[in-house]
Amino acid sequence: MECHFVTGGAGFIGSCYVLHARKNGIKVVNLDKLTYAGNLDNLKDLAEDPDYTFVHGGIENEELVAWILKSYEPSVVINFAAESHVDRSIVDPESFVKTNVLGTATLLRVVKDWWKSLSPCEANKLRFLHVSTDEVFGTLGQNDLPFTETTPYSPNSPYSASKAASDHLVRAFYETYGLPIFLTNCSNNYGPRQFPEKLIPLVILNALQEKTLPVYGTGSNIRDWLHVEDHCEAISCVLNRGELGSSYNIGGRAERTNLEIVQLICSILDEKCPRTSESYSNLIRFVADRPGHDFRYAIDCSKIEAELGWTPRFGLAAGLRSTISWYLEHSDWVQNIQTGAYKSWLQTNYGFRNKRV
Ligand code: NAD
Ligand code: TYD
Repeated sequence: MECHFVTGGAGFIGSCYVLHARKNGIKVVNLDKLTYAGNLDNLKDLAEDPDYTFVHGGIENEELVAWILKSYEPSVVINFAAESHVDRSIVDPESFVKTNVLGTATLLRVVKDWWKSLSPCEANKLRFLHVSTDEVFGTLGQNDLPFTETTPYSPNSPYSASKAASDHLVRAFYETYGLPIFLTNCSNNYGPRQFPEKLIPLVILNALQEKTLPVYGTGSNIRDWLHVEDHCEAISCVLNRGELGSSYNIGGRAERTNLEIVQLICSILDEKCPRTSESYSNLIRFVADRPGHDFRYAIDCSKIEAELGWTPRFGLAAGLRSTISWYLEHSDWVQNIQTGAYKSWLQTNYGFRNKRV
């Protein structure tokens, strides 16, 4: 049976990919350090699955990575492991460099050494896919054309700078050693099991708890949104049909301002579980902006559509509706995630944002 070695598989996107791979009969070994963002509840449906293995540890642990490669002989390695939140990267940039840059460098080197030790027939089968973000391209103006695969990198946050560095390392391993890599740059994901530090789950959970809904600045910044299951499907397409050494942009063709997203969530909640007399939108508050806040991200995903035949299945409104239903139906997941550490992050990130603009 084919085996995929997934890193960061206890996080939001990685766990969706692990579930997707198991549904498709692929054996999975998942290496995850279980930082605040890693959550074994995300994979509790696989607790009894003999073809799924969880290994607790970091991508920077070379002995552990080498042991997994030797023991499981995967044909695919997918690197989801990362520090992934821009606001945290502003508070603590070094931990982003440690995991996203140094961790990826170690993972690449250990995979490369193992791959070199394989017979030509086995070595030919290996694929290394690095999961990255559209944020490496920097920011767009209102009328600029969307990012393509050839847009120069111009990252603005410690998060996107660390992801850009890791992308460059991945390309360098292809050019220098011939390691068979793919790179994917995806827009903002949403869906079930997303840690509620990111905009969409934060707004859903704050609203349900009658807390204010913090919108940075004027709410006019624009993001492109993609359902996480569409992202995982795109990763499978790249693995199955992509051109080695290439990068693929993945996006939802669903650009919205942050205020539009928050208002859409409020209107769905108004229907699904109305407050007594007023709309959830009355909880919206404009708060101090994020420093270096990228104005707009937009993805031109025509390459993956034309070359690999991928298109998103979820429209934004339907995707948000089903996401909100998931959070409403998983109150245990929600309760378990709102730990002391989560509350202390809310204090760090929102405590000082009391200014209305
Ligand atoms: P996440 O923060 O939800 O999950 C990250 C996972 O990585 C967690 O399970 C964490 O425990 C694990 N991890 C962190 N450091 C590790 C280490 N040193 N070794 C092993 N595991 C470690 O992130 P996510 O939203 O699922 O993002 C996954 C990947 O996709 C990231 O590389 C991110 O940059 C990229 N990405 C995310 C988005 C998005 O909108 N969330 C969009 C495009 C790309
Ligand atoms: P986020 O989900 O953190 O993703 P990213 O910064 O990677 O795009 O934020 C999405 C957008 O929402 C971004 O423009 C910042 C904004 N935002 C708010 O307005 N309020 C919030 O509380 C958060 C977390 C984000």
